[in-house]
Amino acid sequence: MGDFNMPARKIIIDTDPGQDDAVAILLALGSPKDIEILGITAVAGNVPLALTQKNARMVCELAGRPDIKVYAGSKHPLAHRLVTAEHVHGKTGLDGPTLPDPTMPLQDQHAVDFIIETLRNHPAGTVTLCPLGPLTNIASAFNQAPDIIEKVQEIVLMGGAYFEVGNITPAAEFNIYVDPEAAEIVFKAGAPITVMPLDVTHKALVTKSRNDAFRDLGTPVGIAVAEMTDFFERFDKEKYGTAGAPLHDPTVIAYLLNPKLFTGRFINVEIETKSTLTRGMTVADWWRVTDREPNAMFMGDIDADGFFELLTNRLANL
Ligand code: RIB
Ligand code: CA
Repeated sequence: MGDFNMPARKIIIDTDPGQDDAVAILLALGSPKDIEILGITAVAGNVPLALTQKNARMVCELAGRPDIKVYAGSKHPLAHRLVTAEHVHGKTGLDGPTLPDPTMPLQDQHAVDFIIETLRNHPAGTVTLCPLGPLTNIASAFNQAPDIIEKVQEIVLMGGAYFEVGNITPAAEFNIYVDPEAAEIVFKAGAPITVMPLDVTHKALVTKSRNDAFRDLGTPVGIAVAEMTDFFERFDKEKYGTAGAPLHDPTVIAYLLNPKLFTGRFINVEIETKSTLTRGMTVADWWRVTDREPNAMFMGDIDADGFFELLTNRLANL
């Protein structure tokens, strides 16, 4: 957790809300001593861009933070048609709670230009990128302005899988599957990467008691998070037969707040972009059976009770 002497960590959240993205944004906003959100950049993913940028603003206003700058980014992946996930997140992408349409403005600047400008205007090693959706915006920024890559403090992303393999196909996790070319660019760029794969998020299940703890906060935020979970858990509980749905994206923010909640390995991770059968697979050399250069801290385990305690405590701040 934040050291009182340490300045808040500056981050850009790149996101495709998505109920779990929304909870990640709320966790960051509930941790102002530890995290300074320089901006939120929306990308097409769970639902089209017109909805992800709107949902991001609705979540900021739910948290009482209409001052947060939200930018719209890429409408579609680099090389494929957009694949969305309304079957999980509902047609709005934020089904569950009834939230008012946003009144805060969407920034005029394109998200990719904001990412480039922000990294150029901050000292090297002081801005962390937190992608929670397809990596289209990040890869586009790296393609347009390769000079910014060495400026990145760390990329902490939700995506991929090794032991859990796939959730949108038998081989691939959704964020990587939607834009595997973008993921390949990001994983080969050379910036420090920490990965929260399904191997971790499938151990972060929102059981009834954990969701009741959100609801029992009795605040608009706590009740809305519980209602989001009530909606999106129906699909995953049916699919996996588990006691709750995996809460994917907040693990990225929790890592920034308390990395000790996670364990993993620094290994080589490469992205399948050629095969139609296994497109988007993260080929993670977990057992180090190749001599491929390690390029990512790939997480494998989580202290789930510690994660939900942190999350609930921080949501209580909103
Ligand atoms: O596979 C899970 C990921 O895909 C999460 O980020 C979820 O929000 C969707 O974007
Ligand atoms: Ca997401």
